[in-house]
Amino acid sequence: MFRFVYRLLLMVVAVALLASCGGTPQTGTDTTSATQPAGSAPAASASAAASAAPEASSSPAAAGSGAATSGEPIEIGIAVAQSSNVALLGQEQVIGAQLAEEFFNQRGGVNGRPIKLLFQDTGGDEAGTINAFQALINNQIVGLVGPTLSQQAFAADPIAEQAKVPVIAPSNTAKGIPEIGDYVARVSAPVAVVAPNAVKAALDINPNIKKVAVFFAQNDAFSKSETVTFQQSVTDTYKLELVTVQQFQTTDTDFTAQVTNALTAQPDLAIISGLAADGGNLVKQLRDLGFQGQIIGGNGLNTTNIFPVCGKQCDGILIAQAYSYETDNEINNEFRTAYKAKQSKEPPQFSAQAFAGVQVFVEALRELDKKTPLSSLSLADIRTQLNQQVLAGSYETPLGKISFTPEGEINQEQFYVAQIKMDDTGANGQFVFVK
Ligand code: ALA
Repeated sequence: MFRFVYRLLLMVVAVALLASCGGTPQTGTDTTSATQPAGSAPAASASAAASAAPEASSSPAAAGSGAATSGEPIEIGIAVAQSSNVALLGQEQVIGAQLAEEFFNQRGGVNGRPIKLLFQDTGGDEAGTINAFQALINNQIVGLVGPTLSQQAFAADPIAEQAKVPVIAPSNTAKGIPEIGDYVARVSAPVAVVAPNAVKAALDINPNIKKVAVFFAQNDAFSKSETVTFQQSVTDTYKLELVTVQQFQTTDTDFTAQVTNALTAQPDLAIISGLAADGGNLVKQLRDLGFQGQIIGGNGLNTTNIFPVCGKQCDGILIAQAYSYETDNEINNEFRTAYKAKQSKEPPQFSAQAFAGVQVFVEALRELDKKTPLSSLSLADIRTQLNQQVLAGSYETPLGKISFTPEGEINQEQFYVAQIKMDDTGANGQFVFVK
């Protein structure tokens, strides 16, 4: 199984290298480029997302329930990981953004003008993200949603900041993201407010938890940030015993040494801060080597795309959530219906946040256009004034009602915890909300 996953990852890395050679943003509302049935091999669908270059297919009112759009489209950049192992997260973002493009164009776009998303694959690293940001910024985009990882954001957001292009971070949850600059805001609530909910949920399920083992990816900014929050939660908030802290790399596939070390301390709870492929493998190896306690996965494991990695061993993992598909407001009900119609499963957090990122831009553009027609502004003025409008607004999104602090940090009210339930075959599973 490890060899299989490793070979898949090698294929995806090869696709990433090929993809990074091209610099032309892709447009499109054809969701087939990134869709996959639940439980299918993640690397295969990631490479499909990377290689597909759907042409723009704006037929705004055709399938819609609202106003028609006409005129020159307003372009928004989407720079997320469509290749590499980070595409296990990024492909969910592509789907969320594409749904938003379709959804808002069916409802009149920006006061009658359609929006058009320009997709640029970042791959999984910083260099690819910088290239993607530069390619998009050199186009006519008014703002940019991305990247997938905080590690990538710390490298690439300063480029957008310098170019005065507003960035909405759809999934960057490390401490310090909004502080990168005036033009950086996020719809992805930070680790400090999301992660501790999972520790509380673990204790609600098993009040006898005393000893905790923590694992984190030391080459990833988000994982380093999240583990600080988890460790404080364990020792300071819940007065548990932190028996070991084990480090790994997001590129690792063999965790025998870390797991063996940790098991000698006989923990009742293991907490993992990493990304999807490494995190899934670590879960599997913890179970294979005999760990029977509760496992908490961090935000990097928050995807059904870990199911092919840890299979039946994914069962029982607790993961804190900044989105619940059960959120009962009009836009989430519509988003959920649209997502399920295309994907035949419940929408995940990464898709909902990407949808919300596009939504914030669209609604801010509508407001801005009402005050000063966008057609009368230069691109530079639209970018600057859009940034101010983003921060000034409040938005009813699939995440619930959100707004921003003056620094661009999200204000969000509701957080949740879900637990993974796998079926007996280990091929299919779902996130079940426990709080
Ligand atoms: N939440 C993860 C990060 O910020 C994906 O990198």
